[in-house]
Amino acid sequence: MSIENKQRRDFIGMAFGAVAAVGGIFALVGLKKGWNPLPSVKAAGFTTVDLTPVKENELYQVEWRKKPVFILKKTADMPKNDKREIVVDGARYTICIGLCTHLGCIPSYKPAQKEFVCACHGGRFDANAINVFGPPPRPLDIPPFKIDGTKLVLGEEGPEYLKMVKKA
Ligand code: FES
Repeated sequence: MSIENKQRRDFIGMAFGAVAAVGGIFALVGLKKGWNPLPSVKAAGFTTVDLTPVKENELYQVEWRKKPVFILKKTADMPKNDKREIVVDGARYTICIGLCTHLGCIPSYKPAQKEFVCACHGGRFDANAINVFGPPPRPLDIPPFKIDGTKLVLGEEGPEYLKMVKKA
């Protein structure tokens, strides 16, 4: 091989190496961008619910982090429970994740009985979402929340939630 040919081959080898290195750097930058959560994903952690249209003894259901959340505006005859209810604008509400604490079915609300009933194995929860019958081992879970005027922000741990968790 002539010296000129060898120099040409060395140059081509270095050029390929440089292209590969630059490609590698771009790939790493792309990977790093993939690690950072998108702003929309961060915002998706919170769900804001206006409580003003919620009617007494009617189940209001919203979705938070792909889970159903039940909001029940309590009637005057429903038992008080300051460990599990929130008061907004003078009205009392039960807020809970709508997944049965037995095996995760979604209970339905029966306004006549004022109970949440799980069709899977007959579990029942009272208007405070406390298990009163069947296999569920504990009350329906309370999601983290914050009260903002007449709005409920699900996903944020406000003082009312922290007080409730301490009492529970
Ligand atoms: S999943 Fe609700 S009672 Fe079993």
